[in-house]
Amino acid sequence: MIINGKLQSEKLRKKIKNEILSLKRKTKKTPKLSVILIGNYLPSQIYVRNKEKMAKEVGMKSEIIRYHSNIPEKTIISKIIQLNKNKNISGILVQLPLPKHIKKENIINTIDPKKDVDGFNPINVGNLASGYNAIVPCTPLGCLKLIKSVKKNLSGKHAVIIGRSNLNGKPMTQLLLKENCTVTIVHSKTKNLKTQCSQADILIAAVGVPKLVKKDWVKRGSIIIDVGINKVKDKIVGDVDFKMVVKKARAITPVPGGVGPMTIACLLNNTLECFKAR
Ligand code: GUN
Repeated sequence: MIINGKLQSEKLRKKIKNEILSLKRKTKKTPKLSVILIGNYLPSQIYVRNKEKMAKEVGMKSEIIRYHSNIPEKTIISKIIQLNKNKNISGILVQLPLPKHIKKENIINTIDPKKDVDGFNPINVGNLASGYNAIVPCTPLGCLKLIKSVKKNLSGKHAVIIGRSNLNGKPMTQLLLKENCTVTIVHSKTKNLKTQCSQADILIAAVGVPKLVKKDWVKRGSIIIDVGINKVKDKIVGDVDFKMVVKKARAITPVPGGVGPMTIACLLNNTLECFKAR
């Protein structure tokens, strides 16, 4: 079975659209997402444009605040403080990666945790790790929703996550622990990578190595989630060798059309949740 990320994303966005409509009627207010984009890195430009387009489609307000790549860090910090105070703004996102002279942690730490739609602020990271209410990073949240679209009860399942990033691997671990999975994180220094992966009931690949996961890396009947977006000879491919693995898996996400569309839907979901909480 191929997990249709586009369809799942459409379903979630329809639900968000209806909720915004009914909240607008009741409160006369609309959620608003502010995105800060620094520099002209092409993938970031594309991501941000898609985020704005989809926000508008669900009836959300959105703005992109653009800066030249040599903007001083303090200008960005001042802007974030201003957005934090602005009652009309529900969510703030600073697109990564940042230019080298800007320290990521200074930026992330400035965003009000209640408007941190990425869930990257240490307050949200800590709340998630403690099992408290938290804003959950969009990519792992999307992955979990895709897994649950094929299997509701994950209790006791062995999940293996390839990659230990703050954006995906680490928060994914917390989400799957909450679902009562047994979780293993593997990474570039792990010994017997293939053997570890082949024991997974749920395998999540988020390393950025094109087609790393081969047929003999996966257990028959497992669920495979491919977070990779790699450009190879003008084609986008995932971290999983889809053609080989699809025959062995119970369910698998394609690239493109799997995790990607779900990530943006989850961003809109987080923005709506921030709006409701305020
Ligand atoms: N760059 C790539 N993915 C992301 C993301 O999820 N959030 C932000 N802010 N930047 C990104």
